[in-house]
Amino acid sequence: MKKIRKAVIPAAGFGTRFLPATKAVPKEMLPIVDVPTIQYIVEEAVNSGIEEILIVTNSSKACMENHFDHNFELEQKLIESHDEERLQLVKAISDMANIYSVRQKNPRGLGHAVLCAKSFIGDEPFAVLLGDDIVVNREKGAIQQLMEAAQRYEGSVVGVQSIARENVHKYGIVAVDETINERIVKVSNMVEKPKPEAAPSNLAVLGRYVLEPAIFSYLESQTPGAGNEIQLTDAIARLAHDRSVYACDFEGVRYDVGDKIGFLKAQIDFALDRPDLHDAMIEILRGIDLHSA
Ligand code: G1P
Repeated sequence: MKKIRKAVIPAAGFGTRFLPATKAVPKEMLPIVDVPTIQYIVEEAVNSGIEEILIVTNSSKACMENHFDHNFELEQKLIESHDEERLQLVKAISDMANIYSVRQKNPRGLGHAVLCAKSFIGDEPFAVLLGDDIVVNREKGAIQQLMEAAQRYEGSVVGVQSIARENVHKYGIVAVDETINERIVKVSNMVEKPKPEAAPSNLAVLGRYVLEPAIFSYLESQTPGAGNEIQLTDAIARLAHDRSVYACDFEGVRYDVGDKIGFLKAQIDFALDRPDLHDAMIEILRGIDLHSA
C-alpha cells in the first residue's frame, strides 16, 4: 500500500448542537481551554506523519483557514512587545502543516464532504479525522494506530471503540466478519445509527478512518441514507463487500466534544492536565459543594 500522506478534516457542519455559540463561530473553533478543537485534530494528524491536510469547509468558516495562516499584524505586535513565548506559539500553528481548504457547496452529509476531497487526494490512501472526536494518546495518536494497521493489513481501516448498547443510535456500527487480533477485526458490513435491536455489534466508529481511494467511486454512486444524507458509513459498507476493510479498536481516551457534556468533561480534564492550571482547577473542584448542587 502507498504511504499515507494526506488527511481530510470534514468541517462544514452547522454545529446546531452548540447554538447559539455556533451562530457566527464555527464549532471547530470552540476552544478546549485555550486551543480550538480543530487544532488538536491537526496536531494528531501531523504527529502521525501526515504532510498535507484538506479541511472541507463552507462559506462561513474562513476563520479556520486564518487560524492556520500567518497573522503578520499580531506577530509584529508580539515582536515589538518582546513576547517571544506567544510569538513562537502563534507562529508554530501556521508552520504546522500544509493546510488547504475546499468548500462543500451543499450540506449533503459526511460522505459528500469526503467526496469533495477527491481531486486533492488523487490515487492514494488517506486519513479522515472528524472534529467532534478528540482522542488523547501521548504515545501514539489514534490515526497513527489506524495508519499502521492499514499498511500492515493492506486495506481500509475504521477506528472503533466499544460503547454501551443504548448509545449505538448515535454512531456508525460495524459488523464483524473475523477477529484478526485483540485490536483488529475484519469488517463485513456497517450500519449508520442503528436502533439497539438492529445493531450488529457495539463497536462504534469514532471519527477516525484510513480509506483507500477506491472509496470515491462508492461515494459518487451513494444514495442518501440515515437523515437523508450521503453517509460515509454506507459507502464504506459497500467497499467492505468488495475489498478489505478492518476496524481498529484504538487506544486512547476519546472525548465527544460535539456533545455538551463531552465538551465540558474535556475542559476539566485538559485543564487538570496543564501544569499552569492544575492546582487552581483542583481548588475549584474541591470548592464545589456537591451536596447542595
Ligand atoms: C458521524 C458518522 C458516524 C460516526 C460519528 C463518530 O456521525 O456519520 O458514523 O460514528 O460521526 O463521531 P455524526 O456524529 O456526525 O452524526
